[in-house]
Amino acid sequence: MSAFFSNARHAQTSIISVFNFSRKTDAYRHYHPQFIIEEQRHIAGASGDFTALLNDIVTAIKTISNAVNKGALIGVMGALDTENVQGETQKKLDVITNEIMIRHNEWAGHLSGMASEEMDDVYSIPSPNPLGKYLLVFDPLDGSSNVDLNISVGTIFSILRSPVPSRAASKEDFFQPGTKQVCAGYALYGSSTMLVLTTGHGVNGFTLDRDIGEFVLTHPNMKIPVDTREFAINASNQRFWEPPVQRYVAECQAGSTGPRGRDFNMRWVASMVAEVHRILTRGGIFMYPRDTKDLSKPGRLRLMYEANPMSFIVEQAGGLSTTGYERILDIVPQDLHQRVPVILGSKNEVEVVLGYHKK
Ligand code: AHG
Ligand code: MN
Ligand code: MN
Repeated sequence: MSAFFSNARHAQTSIISVFNFSRKTDAYRHYHPQFIIEEQRHIAGASGDFTALLNDIVTAIKTISNAVNKGALIGVMGALDTENVQGETQKKLDVITNEIMIRHNEWAGHLSGMASEEMDDVYSIPSPNPLGKYLLVFDPLDGSSNVDLNISVGTIFSILRSPVPSRAASKEDFFQPGTKQVCAGYALYGSSTMLVLTTGHGVNGFTLDRDIGEFVLTHPNMKIPVDTREFAINASNQRFWEPPVQRYVAECQAGSTGPRGRDFNMRWVASMVAEVHRILTRGGIFMYPRDTKDLSKPGRLRLMYEANPMSFIVEQAGGLSTTGYERILDIVPQDLHQRVPVILGSKNEVEVVLGYHKK
């Protein structure tokens, strides 16, 4: 057989196997827009606004994915000489991605306000844009210390209802516990770009097909394994940890010779999105616990745009998320940039840490 025919036959086989794959998983029937319209049917009172809002968020995410992916080619790497409200030096991409989120979401009339890691106060929707019935809170670029290193970064978002639809949102309007979230999601800009979403009916993961510019459902109904042998914590803070976390990590490190009777593995990406995605994929526990490093800060991560959306996703995937003392989703926020301790992941493992806090 000539090379031409053998290649042709090979090509035909791959097309057939892709076709069989898509039939098996339904992947090519579940583009993101169709899926979201189906999801909206679960949301009480949703009229189409929610779908349209989510589509705008998804367009922003595709734009961010493009900017992160092009990187140095379009001059977006490196830091600025500005600081955000939390005193952190801003990367160029922190500011660019914040701007992308604003521009894509301010015009369509679905929101009455936005809040972000990169803005001190509530972002008011500029007139003449109409005001809507939802609030959007986001971390436009999570793990931005990794961005110049070509290590995974992400975007995290949370959608709340406006207490008074179509009135310009005040800061207080945002102070709703995480249990009130209508939707939470993250995008992970990794070896592929993924979008992971919940509206309170399980967790679904989509992969961006750049050729067609659409997210395709590739990870339906994601579930966190209840057991794990993998933990994630920034061990450079060890001397500041409280006794329950000291004990837990020491026991993991003792491995098969210690009280846990099995060996553990450790990971730390310094990108919460990447850590949570790993935990959703193969289980694990992630901790940025309360510590004594800076007593003015009860934790490192921010409640409204990091801990709450991730906790909603983790709980919907069968995991647990706690400060060690209380369920994160029950906390009533008092500040847009409030920090909280976070311990989340595989159910049985988080319960071990919770048990140590109770003692
Ligand atoms: P951000 O880049 O949005 O400021 O968030 C970074 C967060 C989180 O993603 C990560 O888990 C943690 O900070 C990393 O902290 P360390 O620098 O202490 O490792
Ligand atoms: Mn972050
Ligand atoms: Mn950020």
